Amino acid sequence: MEKSLVAFDETQVPIYYSRKTADILHKYGPGPRIHFHMGLFDAGATPNTTVSQRALKQRIVASQEAIVDHAARSWGAYTAPPGRLLDIGCGVGGGSIYWAQEHGAKVTGLTVAGEHVPVIKDLARQAGVADRVSPLLGDVHDFTAGKKKYDAAYANESSGYMDRERLFKVVAKSLRPGGWFGIQEHFICRPEWTDFIDGYYKTRLGTLSEYIYAAEAAGFELEQDEDVTDRVAEFWVQSMAWNTAELDRAERGGERDAWSRERLIESTVTHGKLFRIWRDHAMETRLLLFRLGGGG
Ligand SMILES: C[S@@+](CC[C@H](N)C(=O)[O-])C[C@H]1O[C@@H](n2cnc3c(N)ncnc32)[C@H](O)[C@@H]1O
Repeated sequence: MEKSLVAFDETQVPIYYSRKTADILHKYGPGPRIHFHMGLFDAGATPNTTVSQRALKQRIVASQEAIVDHAARSWGAYTAPPGRLLDIGCGVGGGSIYWAQEHGAKVTGLTVAGEHVPVIKDLARQAGVADRVSPLLGDVHDFTAGKKKYDAAYANESSGYMDRERLFKVVAKSLRPGGWFGIQEHFICRPEWTDFIDGYYKTRLGTLSEYIYAAEAAGFELEQDEDVTDRVAEFWVQSMAWNTAELDRAERGGERDAWSRERLIESTVTHGKLFRIWRDHAMETRLLLFRLGGGG
């Protein structure tokens, strides 16, 4: 695989997320399930974007909920709910709270951004699952599960920040035999775009093969691989529409506590490129299910 020219700097990740927390809460909130990842649209759907900013937000959040639920259903969580789940790179806890509320799981939500922890606690309390969602500040590369292993692990658009060989080894040690590891992630198909995306999101995205090799080396088998690129590409258009509505609101002197004008403009210009990258499959978004061996 072609190596990225942008050196990955792990110290930047918590700084990036601390700066972004207020922006995430403003754009995707008020929750209590607040997600920071792409969302799923019906195949071929291009919902009208000349609607109110409130309608755009509702649609964006609904699409995020839809992809989490779609993955959970495909991975069999409705028939065999995981009792204990490790949510790796949990953001402000949208996924963790989903797993606790919809599937009754006891969830550990791991994040490197210290600022997320009190936010997750508050949102989990609002959702009535404070006893089932435990946010934990830490780096997954150093994570060790206690004696009690997890039934499942979940990484929604967070594995792109991680060293995959180490990630899969850590997860293999944390799961019971036969446990599953579900991933939503973007995968490089055209490497000439890698630096642009990694530079913008501070990630180190990889290829699907790289994930599969790292997973196999740690004792996992790939059980499901769903390419959702065409169904998530629309997310960029809807998100771009929300940004421009927010810019209009700023220009009219609307009250603001997040999203500087510069950030909005930068984000909106970037969204145009991201949409084209996704539409052309230069990057692909996939839902992967890996199963740890030894489950009989
Ligand atoms: C794009 S956000 C996704 C958040 C969440 N999964 C969601 O879907 O809303 C990426 C998350 O990965 C976390 N993260 C990045 N590197 C990490 C690491 N080495 N260990 C643990 N968490 C990490 C960040 O703190 C952030 O919460």
